[in-house]
Amino acid sequence: MNKRIILFFQLIILAAFAARSQDATRFFPEKDLVTTGIYYYPEHWSESQWERDIANISRMGYEFVHLAEFAWFKMEPQEGKFDFAWLDKVVGLCAKYKVKVLLCTPSATTPAWMREKYPETFVMDGHYIRGEHGTRGLGSIVNSKYRWFAGRIITEMGRRYGRNPNVIGWQLDNEPDAKPDYSPSSEQAFRDWLKKKYRTIDALNAAWGTAFWSQWYDRFGQVIIPNTMLVGWWGNNPHALLDLKRYSADAQAAFLDSQAVILRKYISPGQFITTNYTAVATGSDPRRTKKLDFAAYTAYPNGGADNRGKLGFRLGDERTILFAAEYFKATGGLSGVMEMQPGPVNWGSFNPLLLPGTVRMWLYHAFGAGGKIACSYRYRQILYSAEQYHAGVIRTDGITPSRGGEEYMQFMKEIRELRKLYQPGTRMPEKLAARKTAILWNLENFWSIDRQKQTYLWDAWNYPVRFLEAAKALGAPVDVVGPGTDLSAYKVVIVPAYEMADTALVRKWKAYVAGGGHLIITCRTATKDSQGHFREGEWASALSGLIGAHITATDMMPGNNHGDIRMDSVDYNWNSWADLLTPDKGTDVLAVYNDQFYKGAAAVVRRAIGKGTVTYIGAATTEFKLEKELLRNAYHEAGADTEDYPPGVYVYWRDGFYIAVNYSSEEYALKVPVTGKVLVGESVLQPSGVAVWSE
Ligand code: GAL
Repeated sequence: MNKRIILFFQLIILAAFAARSQDATRFFPEKDLVTTGIYYYPEHWSESQWERDIANISRMGYEFVHLAEFAWFKMEPQEGKFDFAWLDKVVGLCAKYKVKVLLCTPSATTPAWMREKYPETFVMDGHYIRGEHGTRGLGSIVNSKYRWFAGRIITEMGRRYGRNPNVIGWQLDNEPDAKPDYSPSSEQAFRDWLKKKYRTIDALNAAWGTAFWSQWYDRFGQVIIPNTMLVGWWGNNPHALLDLKRYSADAQAAFLDSQAVILRKYISPGQFITTNYTAVATGSDPRRTKKLDFAAYTAYPNGGADNRGKLGFRLGDERTILFAAEYFKATGGLSGVMEMQPGPVNWGSFNPLLLPGTVRMWLYHAFGAGGKIACSYRYRQILYSAEQYHAGVIRTDGITPSRGGEEYMQFMKEIRELRKLYQPGTRMPEKLAARKTAILWNLENFWSIDRQKQTYLWDAWNYPVRFLEAAKALGAPVDVVGPGTDLSAYKVVIVPAYEMADTALVRKWKAYVAGGGHLIITCRTATKDSQGHFREGEWASALSGLIGAHITATDMMPGNNHGDIRMDSVDYNWNSWADLLTPDKGTDVLAVYNDQFYKGAAAVVRRAIGKGTVTYIGAATTEFKLEKELLRNAYHEAGADTEDYPPGVYVYWRDGFYIAVNYSSEEYALKVPVTGKVLVGESVLQPSGVAVWSE
């Protein structure tokens, strides 16, 4: 590439960063550690109670109130007629009681007049039936009328509150999702998106492989949104479906960005713009937005699942916060929890009481993982509607804190104490920095593998999360990063089932290893190019030069059957995936298959390149112990020691504090050094227990 072209690309990258706004850390002074807040919906309650409620929110210790989400009907009761008097009053009460305000754009729910006059603003499902008024998230985000109306109410809000010194920021929409929309507006938008991407119909035909089953197109106007509802699973084209996912995520990101662009015209630079993705956001992609300051997430760890251990069903699923807290840092470098489950919800298969301490533990989990915001849905338990059984931090009498409310207050009190102990400029302890780990993950690989699992035993979402669990059990600080991230800061990088990888990315991994990095690559990686096609050549040919081995075949078994892998005289079970490997000369075999007709074939190989190592794990084991041991080896090779936290115990470090939480059903004695000081909780962690200490 000549220098001018390189400069051109550098300028584009710089411009992209500039567009995203400045560094998001400036909204959150480090000494505050975390900012706490609560959702309040004044429109659900009698005006006569607003002052009492805001005063109580302030007394409980909350620092901001989250307002106006879903309140479009109240702010624009008739088309073009705005009423902000009620919101002015609540915003004023917040100032009076010294709590800040976080405002929301109301685009997730449209008023009844919208349905009456503009039914075309709703999405269509795969049977081409239009969504109806009455719930949320059914606006067609690519419909120009819907966009125009959303833009207008956002403009009105921005004008009115954008300079209000008590407003700290904005949340866009509610849990933005990227569900497929089959409406005419969306079909047109999809075709436009395809035209922009492929330019010619021939390029699309090649990328989608439409020579198969006569799917061939003559022009973009023939292309419809891939419709699994009507065509059926077999009739669908994985490349078309992948593009539908990409288009839907792009459309969602563009919708959020368009809201941010409007707001920025009116708001002061001190107000941030964020959104609240669901922790497990499988459709919308936070990395695609360009104009938000950061991305927050919503965490509902307990939806009535039967989690590990006898108390697991009360403690919830730790993976919710574990993964989200790292993943959503992808936008703006920081994140936080916008909705933390305050108690039993209304939508689980059953909704048990939480073990006392659980809400506080979740809050500490999100805080420990670096969260800058800890906010909860919602203040009062509502007396009517679809969510009437959903706990709030205040009970149905409107004044008494629920168990979750008590725990939230305790958390906020403790945070205030920790702030006093905060010392600026504390650096991550060397023993932790020596284990710094990145897990490379992106949504496109999830979409691709989830569509073509090959075995019902493959859990496409949780496979990378299991590596996160393992790395945390070994005591590592872990980031979840995308393909563009500079890997040089990481001692260990894990690439779990990264199915679509082009050769440039594989070269980047090799350079990372040559420079002294320790790379763990697993089965299902780089078997496809970035278009989702296999390469013409040996299986996963892009990888063999890096891992020093060839993948000759792949096996899988039913769930009630297990194969055996042996490493260092220890046996491990597998049943979902097993690549049979033939190593090159100079590549070490670390584990072999110990049964089946291919007994003795290599299952795990490792080789050194330059100053680093690369380990390829060909199998996915049932209990993940093999993977964990290999990860442990990688840390040792990197010169780091490791911890051995039991399942469910998570330890973090931030801002000079160690934070530990216990999701397991057993107590666990932390090893706090004699020089250390326990500041919150106890060093013997009970189930749902929390400890904060400094060393
Ligand atoms: C969230 C949503 C909230 C509320 C909550 C109930 O997903 O953002 O508005 O519905 O679930 O648990």
